[in-house]
Amino acid sequence: MNNNTFIHKYIKPLIGKTDTVVDMTAGNGNDTLFLAGLAGKVIAFDISQEALRRSKEKTKDFDNIEFHHASHGDVDLYVKKDEASLFIFNLGYLPGSDEKTFTQKDESLKAFRKAYGLLRKKGYIIITFYLRQIGGYDEYYLLDDFIKKNKLQILEAYHQDKMDSPITYIIYKSQSSTDE
Ligand SMILES: C[S@@+](CC[C@H](N)C(=O)[O-])C[C@H]1O[C@@H](n2cnc3c(N)ncnc32)[C@H](O)[C@@H]1O
Repeated sequence: MNNNTFIHKYIKPLIGKTDTVVDMTAGNGNDTLFLAGLAGKVIAFDISQEALRRSKEKTKDFDNIEFHHASHGDVDLYVKKDEASLFIFNLGYLPGSDEKTFTQKDESLKAFRKAYGLLRKKGYIIITFYLRQIGGYDEYYLLDDFIKKNKLQILEAYHQDKMDSPITYIIYKSQSSTDE
């Protein structure tokens, strides 16, 4: 099972029509489309106009998506505290593009920290790291270190049994957690 199949299977029972969820990397719109079918509202970000064009085209039958041409590092300008019950990050570059626009580790960390702070208690962050891509390992080590140092609760760490294959963390913000 690839990481995206794992993620979609995992989150399907977690989201309902009263939930607002956030796609931090819209890309080709596959996650945005999946989330739009489950949630009441989806807020989606990408810094690539081409990614937003593709995502909007893919989700044109839905009217519950708010797209932002903005960096996920500025998520707090668009999402209110406790508004969202799930954030998803699919890091790396836009598949089928020139691969020049890809996530940058410091911006990804900034976005992750803000997302965790904004996330509702009993909410989830799903994050996938692509180790093989440029800067992939550095991005993974930086965020993994932050997650472990702050003792965030990792419910699942999914990784296919192949060298350098992507890693997905399912992170849970429990009722008793602090905002880090
Ligand atoms: C692997 S793709 C996402 C795939 C997508 N989730 C899907 O289902 O098709 C990563 C995306 O992150 C975007 N990205 C890179 N840096 C970003 C940033 N600072 N803020 C928001 N999106 C960013 C890229 O433009 C690219 O489209």
